[in-house]
Amino acid sequence: MAKAKSSFVCEDCGSEHSRWQGQCNACKEWNTITEIRVSAEPQDARSARYSGYAGETASKVETLQQISLTELPRISSGYLELDRVLGGGIVPGSAILIGGNPGAGKSTLLLQVMCGLASKMNALYVTGEESLQQVAMRANRLGLPTDKLKMLAETSVEKICDIAMKELPKVIVIDSIQVVHVGDIASAPGSVSQVRESAAFLTRFAKQYGVAIFLVGHVTKDGALAGPKVLEHCIDCSVMFDGDMDSRFRTIRSHKNRFGAVNELGVFAMTGKGLKEVSNPSAIFLSRDDEESPGSVVLVIWEGTRPLLVEVQALVDESQMPNPRRIAVGLDQNRLALLLAVLHRHAGLQMSDQDVFANVVGGVKVTETGSDLALLMAMVSSFKNQALPHNLIVFGEVGLAGEIRPVPSGQERIREAIKHGFTRALVPLGNVPKTPPKGMEIIGVKKLSQAIDSIFS
Ligand code: TYD
Ligand code: MG
Repeated sequence: MAKAKSSFVCEDCGSEHSRWQGQCNACKEWNTITEIRVSAEPQDARSARYSGYAGETASKVETLQQISLTELPRISSGYLELDRVLGGGIVPGSAILIGGNPGAGKSTLLLQVMCGLASKMNALYVTGEESLQQVAMRANRLGLPTDKLKMLAETSVEKICDIAMKELPKVIVIDSIQVVHVGDIASAPGSVSQVRESAAFLTRFAKQYGVAIFLVGHVTKDGALAGPKVLEHCIDCSVMFDGDMDSRFRTIRSHKNRFGAVNELGVFAMTGKGLKEVSNPSAIFLSRDDEESPGSVVLVIWEGTRPLLVEVQALVDESQMPNPRRIAVGLDQNRLALLLAVLHRHAGLQMSDQDVFANVVGGVKVTETGSDLALLMAMVSSFKNQALPHNLIVFGEVGLAGEIRPVPSGQERIREAIKHGFTRALVPLGNVPKTPPKGMEIIGVKKLSQAIDSIFS
């Protein structure tokens, strides 16, 4: 076997260095560089040697046109919400990372998917974290079909691949990437080098044999994929569970996808019988009191290919602290600070002596700037202690000059709001439809001050 050599890798950004140093040159983080042992033999040669594949694929140069476009059909996971996040189903030969906090439901979701898939194709579930009995008990309790799914308790990547070559599954789940290891690296499972090499090995295996591989990955306290961000380079698609683990609802989102758009949102509910799809999420995120209360407004966001109605709440209260707090849950904290400055400058509302809290109900994370206007209206409503009308929806981006900018898919957002019984919409002037839709009064605004005047008399 070739001699192993060392390499120094930053755990945060994945950049490589020739020697150990206190600070990473690339991302400027301190104490993130760790030594990893890599085999001197390149990754390709190793997996080729192992799989007996050497020499079979001679490298040749082709033009784009010559490359065969016959795509293998995508495999449906049996869950529309997951398929949409994956960009239309599982692509054969792809490596998909499923990340999330412990207890998010990664194992549950994949077990449900695999039990369903097993009736149509050869499927293998490799568990390194739970025992076979634990998985079997869970499957029984959830009432899943258990007769076809093949199970394996193993943590050595080489052995897993050896067995996979005999069993020839079309889909494999590795639960989780942090407990598997490759033989020729000395460090412990879960360390940067092990996770990185194991993922690279499995990804290569997936490509060579056209097997779709799901890798389960845990996240660290600060929400990054445990240890190495390096993992994201080699996989094809990364799906993360986000949202509040205390609530019943789990949202999944793709952060990287080589075969589809990112930022599609899938919604599941964790029930006593496992994860259930939520096909009409607006209905749940909107379950609110009939009573109007200050500081609350309904926002229409655009998630990938569909609109979603969520409630935004703000609480503006006199601060007892020298530095008033600005806290945003489910929204961007920096955006909140920026909007407060715009509010002061362009609408003359001073909140520098107030604590400001903002929250999106239901644990949804809102990342688009189309939420600006709604957040501002919620803050003004709480500040003035005046409730906004119950039948009102708001969307629009706010610029630094206090202008209200149009957002994509305005018509579809308005249509979705009509479907849910809303009758007034405060939107950017640029998003006002040419022919007014039936049953909806549309207020188009160009300036922040104009928006505030049109709602608060
Ligand atoms: P699990 O899939 O084991 O999480 P992960 O693999 O992401 O760590 O999910 C475990 C959580 O889900 C656990 O806290 C209990 C909850 N749960 C239910 O509420 N109902 C169920 O039917 C199942 C299987 C789990
Ligand atoms: Mg698990």
